[in-house]
Amino acid sequence: MRLFEGLLFLALLVISPVHAIDLVLGDEASVKAAAKTIAFGMTEYYTGDNPGDVPGNLPDPYFWWEAGAMFGMLVEYWALTKDDTYNVMTMQALLHQATENGDFMPPNQTRTLGNDDQGFWGMAAMSAAEYNFPNPPQDKPQWLALAQSLFNQWATRWEESTCQGGLRWQIFSFNAGYNYKNSISNGCFFNIAARLARYTGNQTYAEWAARIWAWEEAIGLITSDYQVHDGVHINTNDNTCSQTDTNQWTYNAGIFLHGAAVMYNLTSNPIWRERVEGLLRTTVSTFFTLPENNTNSRTPVMHEQLCEPLSLCNIDQRSFKGYLTRWLANTAQLAPFTFQTIQPLLLADAAAAAQACTGSVRTLVPNIPGARPEPPFRGEPGTACGFRWTVNGFDGQTGVGEQMNALAAVMYSMVVDPNLSQFAPVPLTAVSGGTSKGDPSAGTSPRGAEEERKRLLDGEITIKDQVAAGFLTSAIVLGVVMGCIFVII
Ligand SMILES: *[C@@H]1O[C@H](CO)[C@@H](O)[C@H](O)[C@H]1NC(C)=O
Ligand SMILES: *[C@@H]1O[C@H](CO)[C@@H](O)[C@H](O)[C@H]1NC(C)=O
Ligand SMILES: *[C@@H]1O[C@H](CO)[C@@H](O)[C@H](O)[C@H]1NC(C)=O
Ligand SMILES: *[C@@H]1O[C@H](CO)[C@@H](O)[C@H](O)[C@H]1NC(C)=O
Ligand SMILES: *[C@@H]1O[C@H](CO)[C@@H](O)[C@H](O)[C@H]1NC(C)=O
Repeated sequence: MRLFEGLLFLALLVISPVHAIDLVLGDEASVKAAAKTIAFGMTEYYTGDNPGDVPGNLPDPYFWWEAGAMFGMLVEYWALTKDDTYNVMTMQALLHQATENGDFMPPNQTRTLGNDDQGFWGMAAMSAAEYNFPNPPQDKPQWLALAQSLFNQWATRWEESTCQGGLRWQIFSFNAGYNYKNSISNGCFFNIAARLARYTGNQTYAEWAARIWAWEEAIGLITSDYQVHDGVHINTNDNTCSQTDTNQWTYNAGIFLHGAAVMYNLTSNPIWRERVEGLLRTTVSTFFTLPENNTNSRTPVMHEQLCEPLSLCNIDQRSFKGYLTRWLANTAQLAPFTFQTIQPLLLADAAAAAQACTGSVRTLVPNIPGARPEPPFRGEPGTACGFRWTVNGFDGQTGVGEQMNALAAVMYSMVVDPNLSQFAPVPLTAVSGGTSKGDPSAGTSPRGAEEERKRLLDGEITIKDQVAAGFLTSAIVLGVVMGCIFVII
């Protein structure tokens, strides 16, 4: 009996399909197949295209901005792999959330709408323009115009009366986080301004990019050794800004690195080259580390140093590595002098991330107070991606962020792989084949602002909403604080 059971078990082991991501770097078919499996696992979380659901929204507890980031990733997934499986869904989501005003400012999101939240949707639209993602029907907002619309809104929100400039995190004064000027919001503005400058050739955008960078430096959020700090609090009694949150996150470094590379590409200016070099140096020394277990690899891989080693990253933070990966790849293309530095890092990340995609169910829930449960993984069993790339395997964390990070790691290997880089598309401009129609005055009509004011007066923003927003922010802040405490310990 015992022997029989043992044999049966062995037989099952042999015949049950062994799912895992089988990645051969440099083999186009293998890279695309791996990316496809991971993208499937990611998009299975999405329910917004089900009848009766809202296009563009990920289910709770994923925030709206992360959905925008995911669709941005899917735009570039299509650009790199030519797999158009998700194009219809992506177009539907982007256009629904752009709303008929064409400004990624849906009233449903008012109670937590930050400039950075809009930014991740806007960067998705910018990528769609740069890679000639299929253009929307003529009666809908166009990709380039959507990015210009955000640029124009941000320019009107730039505020010199506090901290001598900069964008606030939150847009509405009743939301917690309104008195915080952060690098990711200003980074979104910088990134899109630089890309609009490159795409359109309009000097106004380039001037703004230079101005945003100068402010980040002047206020100390980009330090002399190119650390990018998280943000600065406004002292509401005198409007000065001295209390800085010095935490360093992958995505803050990445968003400025990419924007600076775009500015370098546009201008060939040695100042931008120096900034790219400085940010890249700090990015490598801060966010890359040797794999924990003794492996053959001597190449460091990316980690979210503040919270990852103790599995304390919250849902948002568990998606940041994917963006830094994207921006490193884009930097390698646009500032070719960085290629040799970035190539081995991204190739090692791709291999390590693929190795982390062997799970089926979540076994590790980050130990964050107030963390809300996430939906289960519904992709192919045995291909769920874990969060940590340093452990040579699946660490038990799953979610949209984990899938998005791994997808980025695998698909952007194409950009730097010696065998495949020639096939990786380079972001277009209006003169190199980009077809998206722009509208330099998009988003400037007073209608949006008027509507906001009216909504407030109409009492649509209830106390309940304010409390909810405050709660969300405290949860985020608490997560960060916990992360720091543990890192210090
Ligand atoms: C990469 O290209 C080289 C040279 O053409 C070739 O020998 C090698 O097999 C390729 N690698 C893969 C994984 O396809
Ligand atoms: C806002 O919420 C309503 C009700 O759920 C939904 O019908 C609508 O599509 C949402 N709008 C956006 C832009 O998400
Ligand atoms: C800008 O990017 C393109 C595409 O990769 C590249 O060919 C060109 O050399 C870059 N320009 C500069 C100034 O590096
Ligand atoms: C890596 O090392 C840790 C700690 O020693 C161990 O618990 C884990 O099982 C190892 N993982 C792999 C994939 O070797
Ligand atoms: C350049 O951009 C600015 C800012 O949006 C706009 O006011 C101006 O009309 C644009 N110029 C051209 C030629 O499109």
